[in-house]
Order: sequence, then structure tokens, then C-alpha cells
Amino acid sequence: MHTKILMVCLGNICRSPLAEGILRSKVDKSKVTVDSAATSNWHIGKTPDPRSISIAKEFGVDISTLIVRQFTVQDFEDFDIIFVMDESNYKDVISLARDDKDTKKVNKILDSLQDGNNLDVPDPYYGEKDGFLEVYKKLEEAIEVIIRELKLA
Ligand code: 4NP
Repeated sequence: MHTKILMVCLGNICRSPLAEGILRSKVDKSKVTVDSAATSNWHIGKTPDPRSISIAKEFGVDISTLIVRQFTVQDFEDFDIIFVMDESNYKDVISLARDDKDTKKVNKILDSLQDGNNLDVPDPYYGEKDGFLEVYKKLEEAIEVIIRELKLA
């Protein structure tokens, strides 16, 4: 069984590229396809924020060549599971859902954590570099659970 997973955030330059890179670095690539996308069109065509590239590199994960693209309705066809980072992403993606089948594919990524129910991955864009470490750690924790639950490794 092959699982296709899409990570979504507002800009596709800070959080979702990290989530994409972390997941890809830990799974059996024959079992999983991973991608990421933005709800906004603000940074289309760019590479991730240098602070995300840098924190990922510290953990041995290379996200420097990822390219921003915007989420589209076609993604509901192309992916089995869509993980969003926060409530605002959730509302934006759900607003494009055509039916229940689409809606059911969308999950907030920290819901995977026991104590994470309905929590947001904080947007680190306007903050200090520490924010990126915090985001990395939270995402890694959630992704470890997802890998175990979905048997992706
Ligand atoms: P991301 O962070 O959604 O995690 O990629 C942001 C990136 C850019 C902006 C906001 C959040 N922005 O305002 O341009």
C-alpha cells in the first residue's frame, strides 16, 4: 500500500517544507509520496525561508531545493491525507473541499499528538530563530506518531 501525504501551511516556506522534509527523511520511500503546498499565492516559485533550510540542515535534512506551489482542488484527488499546520490553514483548505470525502482527508498535524488536540503549529515567520527550532521539534514529534500509526517506515 502506497500513501500520498500533503503538508499545507500559509506560505509553504516555513512550516510545511519542514514537515515535508522531516517526513521524507524518516519513511520508506517505496511506501510514501510526500509533498507540500501553500494556501496563499504569496511565495509561489520560491525556495523555503533560509531559517527553515538552516534548522533542517542542523538535523541532517535538506529542504533547500523545494519550490513553493499553491494548494489546488486537484490535491484532493492526488493525495490520501492532507496535514495542515493551523486552524486558519484548516479553514482555507476545507473551503475548497467538494464533498465529505475531501473534508475527511484534512487533519491538523498536531492532532496526532496525545496532548495536541486542536493545537496549532505556531507561525514562526515574524519571530526569532528559536521559533524555528520549536516548530521543528513539534513537527518531528507529531511525524514520529504519524509514521508509527500509518506504518510508513
Ligand atoms: P508558513 O509561514 O505559512 O509556515 O510558510 C509564513 C510564511 C510567509 C508569511 C506568513 C507565514 N508571509 O506573511 O509572507
